[in-house]
Amino acid sequence: MTSPVLLETAPADTALPPPPQVPGWPFLGNALDFLNRPIEFFLECYHSYGPIFHISAANQRFVVMAGLEANRFFAQDKDEIFSSEPLFGEFARQMGSSNFLVAQDGAPHRHMRKVMQRGYSKSGLAPHLDTLADLTYRTAQTWPEGSTFFARDTFQRLVTEQLGTALTNHSSKEHFEAIRIYLSTLLNVLVIKRQPKLLLSLPRYKNARAKVMEFARLVLQEHRDQPPGDERDPDLIDDLLAALDWNGDPLQEDDLLAATIGPFFAGMDTLANTMGFMIYAILKHPEVYAAIQAEVDEHFADGVPPWRDLPKLQNLYAATIETLRRYPVTPFTPRGVAKPFTFAGHYVAPGQDIIIVNGLTHFLPEFFPDPWRFDIQRYIPPRKEHNQGLGIFAPYTVGPHTCLGAGIAEVQLMVTVGALLRAVRLELESPDYEIVTKLLPLPGPDPKFKLRVVEHRNP
Ligand code: HEM
Repeated sequence: MTSPVLLETAPADTALPPPPQVPGWPFLGNALDFLNRPIEFFLECYHSYGPIFHISAANQRFVVMAGLEANRFFAQDKDEIFSSEPLFGEFARQMGSSNFLVAQDGAPHRHMRKVMQRGYSKSGLAPHLDTLADLTYRTAQTWPEGSTFFARDTFQRLVTEQLGTALTNHSSKEHFEAIRIYLSTLLNVLVIKRQPKLLLSLPRYKNARAKVMEFARLVLQEHRDQPPGDERDPDLIDDLLAALDWNGDPLQEDDLLAATIGPFFAGMDTLANTMGFMIYAILKHPEVYAAIQAEVDEHFADGVPPWRDLPKLQNLYAATIETLRRYPVTPFTPRGVAKPFTFAGHYVAPGQDIIIVNGLTHFLPEFFPDPWRFDIQRYIPPRKEHNQGLGIFAPYTVGPHTCLGAGIAEVQLMVTVGALLRAVRLELESPDYEIVTKLLPLPGPDPKFKLRVVEHRNP
């Protein structure tokens, strides 16, 4: 379906020109377009300047790579050209960890990924599917008929509780606010760099940090006191406690604390944002809503089906995949350039900040006809548009850091949205409401987006 891709690899040709600069406003550069309409802006740049260009945003300058060739070039790199350290290194240091997965490159990263593979797998989540659904049912029971709720806030709380229970064997309810403040402050100050470092010395952040660490210590202590056995299966935390680092030494306590927070860091916003978009899209398409409701009424009545069978709920599965395409919450992958390279006739020097727009392909009609349309038929045979080859459907990015929890994410989305539609009938506050995407800092539904509970249904 796609044309062969020629990847230009080293040696980098310094005689080639640098990527073209996209014109912008004095001082602000391209910041407004990037913040307010990032996908549309990157599409326009891609069509005008090709698959590599420079943008500026206030005092920052980024190389941007976009399109299928860019995704495939990025996918084949083994953390040699593109490094995660410049981006997440300070984040890891704030946590006191030298083994923080997202900040690692090369062999030490591959080693830690193997350590965490089982804990972040769908099969690791398998014993907890009914718990995920029960937590959803219990949340829905608290909503009076006719009431409204803020989708993003509600879903953040729900998925955080689900992740705590399923991946760390501990409720995170009491620590939710602290986890949210801690992670969003670190992201905004150290990764996105849109808030001042001063925030890290204020009591709000420091108190949140102390509470988050208290949570992580509690989880580790419980796992040390009650090792897995007849009572429970081993989980991510047990695997971390038993692991050795790349040098063959047991993980330091700070590494363990940081890794215990990992599921929340990786899953809280990504899942809550996707869930918000997914419910919105389903409500905008009554035929999809009716089809999913019929599926979950039939298949969830005696408990959640095993994860292997969930894709058999074809409409629920297709709506999940189509949401990940049409409303990608991680459409950009930021990195530092560690080694010079040449791409599409341009030379890129090391030391620069780069953004790979992994989600741009989702909006190219050659891969997804009528790309802005939410259409679950794309994934139902014979179309199967999510299966066209590497780098075309890329909601979890590509390359060595591609989402380790992608399987968990899809199962958790299907179980939670399925359980929600089984428990209550929902509607938009107004039928003509159009969703607004905000950078939070990941793209997500406007925090003011509200849902109304029309009536309770099951169970
Ligand atoms: C819709 C939901 C999700 C999306 C779109 C998503 C997307 C991503 C992306 C794009 C990355 C790569 C980040 C980078 O390279 O800079 C990533 C990494 C990761 N994700 Fe997810 N994620 C989702 C949910 C989850 C969940 C629920 C978990 C587990 C609880 C999870 C665990 C991880 C882990 C551990 C990594 C780090 C992998 C590494 O650095 O090698 N993710 N995710």
